[in-house]
Amino acid sequence: MRAEVKEICKALHLAYIADRFEEVRFETKEQFLRDVLALELSCRQEAKQARLIKKAKFRELKWLKDYEWSGHIHWPATTSREELCDLRFLERKQNVLLLGSPGTGKTHLATALGIQACQQGHEVQFFSASRILSPSWKRR
Ligand SMILES: Nc1ncnc2c1ncn2[C@@H]1O[C@H](COP(=O)(O)OP(=O)(O)O)[C@@H](O)[C@H]1O
Ligand SMILES: [Mg+2]
Repeated sequence: MRAEVKEICKALHLAYIADRFEEVRFETKEQFLRDVLALELSCRQEAKQARLIKKAKFRELKWLKDYEWSGHIHWPATTSREELCDLRFLERKQNVLLLGSPGTGKTHLATALGIQACQQGHEVQFFSASRILSPSWKRR
């Protein structure tokens, strides 16, 4: 039976269900089917996010949850913390410029926004300014 489940999942390109369906509690047939399919979906989304984060080649992984939003940031009137963290600049096709002295958290915030974008399914690429300016910047 288990071997058959594995075979069928393989044929249907369901990568996670065969190994993990036992974690799903059974109450009714419909609920079980829903939760098993939801498990496949969330595992796929997680794997996709991890792939996108790896592909982005961030120098270091940094997260919005670890960013200290103290009073040191002067926001322009055209945006706010909420708008930035919601990645509204992507929909609007706008650039974000973070200006400040070394060590004030620009790279942390830029990376964390990039990771947030990966988590929403966007393809991201981390470049340093010096690499963009180098003649061979396309070669990694
Ligand atoms: N506001 C902040 N909240 C959390 N960590 C910060 C903050 N500002 C700086 N850091 C930390 O200090 C270090 C240097 O910050 P970084 O983002 O590289 O600064 P910058 O790019 O502005 O030179 C990093 O490890 C970063 O995580
Ligand atoms: Mg920096």
